[in-house]
Amino acid sequence: MDKHIITTDDDQAIRKVLQILLRKEGYRVTVCSSGDELLSILKKDSPTVDLVLLDIKMPGLSGMQVLEALRRNYPRIPVVMLTAFNDLETGMKAIRMGASDYLTKPVRREVLVECVSRVLNATALKQDEVAEMVHSQAQQKKLEDQLQSALIALESTTLATLEAFTETIEQKDPYTKGHCSRVRTISLAIAQALDFTDERLQILEGGALLHDIGKIGIPEEILNKAAKLTKSEYDIIREHPASGERIIKHIDMFQAYRPIIRSHHERMDGKGYPDGLKGEDIPVDVRIVSLADAFDAMTTSRAYRSALPTEFAVEELKLNTGTQFDPDLVNLFIEREIFLL
Ligand SMILES: [Fe+2]
Repeated sequence: MDKHIITTDDDQAIRKVLQILLRKEGYRVTVCSSGDELLSILKKDSPTVDLVLLDIKMPGLSGMQVLEALRRNYPRIPVVMLTAFNDLETGMKAIRMGASDYLTKPVRREVLVECVSRVLNATALKQDEVAEMVHSQAQQKKLEDQLQSALIALESTTLATLEAFTETIEQKDPYTKGHCSRVRTISLAIAQALDFTDERLQILEGGALLHDIGKIGIPEEILNKAAKLTKSEYDIIREHPASGERIIKHIDMFQAYRPIIRSHHERMDGKGYPDGLKGEDIPVDVRIVSLADAFDAMTTSRAYRSALPTEFAVEELKLNTGTQFDPDLVNLFIEREIFLL
């Protein structure tokens, strides 16, 4: 389709010359005699306009005022200013204000044709670049959306896998039904009170659910024994953190949970197992799970005893603060009334 150019000049003779020259070059030309007329044409037909030729000196709105309005309202349309022969400075100022170029009057045909064609080509190129940019932004958005969906799918697969493992652990011992998910709930409540990031919360959640995965390997008659355990039976029980670590060792998605699985029976005083870690050497998320694990174990029925009342379990935590449990975590647990969960 022919390119559409509007020439704006208060001098009728100049309008006529420009119209004739440009039409000869195959352009569709509209002429107008003032800035107001130009703006009212653009109001209705701006999408059809490819270039504006604009006289600087006109009665009514000056060329500069019109240029300013065009840049603001129709930034897509390039503007070439027409200046008097001896007024190059104004031409330069117009370029600084956003005009694509300027022509001095009287305009020579070759200069006019070259300038108009150059500005139209440059604008087309710029529009191609914009279209390319919009396209690549859309591509990037599409990729980000796909990645996000994949991530959501992966997260839900991870959670489903975690829950399947948890189910397996709990099936071994009917007394611990719901234990893993309660340890998860309590651990997350403590960590949220400590403003853990989402990433750390996710690791804590998985570790809390899987902390006892090593119990899969313990014979049920030992796990569910109502009577007091023998020394050798107790030794077998004490192996579950290390065997849990062995079970998940080859599962990439569970690697972040290793410290919790291996060390959730460590104590602040170093008398825990399997490594006898002490105080700050035990990572904080491990200390959180240890507290949550012990509290839930005390407040639910086991094969060898019935559930203790909550107040009694809280007292036990206080009694063992600093020796078994992290004092700061015990305080937080009590102050925030997490034991009521
Ligand atoms: Fe355990």
